[in-house]
Amino acid sequence: MRKQIAASNWKMNLNLQKADELLQTVLTTVPKLKAHQQVIIAVPFPFLQMAKEKIATNSNFEIAAQNCHHKKSGAFTGEISTEMLQSICVNYCIVGHSERREYFLETNNQIAEKINLCLADQLAPIFCCGENLSVRDSENQNNFVKVQLSESLFHLSEDEIKKIIIAYEPIWAIGTGKTATANQVQQMHAHIRTVIAEKYGEVVANEISILYGGSVNAANAKEIFNCQDVDGGLVGGASLKAVDFVEIISGLK
Ligand code: 13P
Repeated sequence: MRKQIAASNWKMNLNLQKADELLQTVLTTVPKLKAHQQVIIAVPFPFLQMAKEKIATNSNFEIAAQNCHHKKSGAFTGEISTEMLQSICVNYCIVGHSERREYFLETNNQIAEKINLCLADQLAPIFCCGENLSVRDSENQNNFVKVQLSESLFHLSEDEIKKIIIAYEPIWAIGTGKTATANQVQQMHAHIRTVIAEKYGEVVANEISILYGGSVNAANAKEIFNCQDVDGGLVGGASLKAVDFVEIISGLK
């Protein structure tokens, strides 16, 4: 069975004390998970060390960074390199989140560079893709996401692409309370898998976990996660409340 993943993205929220408390509550209230189920907590950079130490006793938990720089090192004041993340034993990194694309003007090509650096430093990228409302309204979402995938991922070898986690996050559903329907999610996830299969073959496509993100909450997670091509979620707002996030984790297949 493909890995089923409940990932949280805390974005720029909390402070160290509140983050510690939230993680502690999640860890002490989460039910025992199966071997194929995983929780990945994407925390702000200053909390990585604390979070890494805290999850050490639960083998189903991992920590992720929310971003990394697209150059290896150098005069980029304020940026964080993949080598820095690797050196503190972070194993995952969100790459290409729509907020990075929108506010920091990240391009598909830059995201490809980040993916390469992540893989070179043994970080598994959580690659975000997804269309905005005008693309969805013009029914162009399938082609839009295909271009995102091909421009950022399709230079990778078969072995490399297997290390990627894909998160489909339609921008119109992020932080809006307007979740995509289970049917819309399944259709896009099936499309993503088909696009990968066309390039890398079905065996590879069937190994890749594809998460859904966009207003996932305690009430809708289970229905969405149950879709055939959905392998869990990437959760923003609802992951800031321990009780809600634990309920979401419990919705994994
Ligand atoms: P929300 O769950 O708050 O809609 O955010 C989704 C997201 O952007 C996760 O990366």
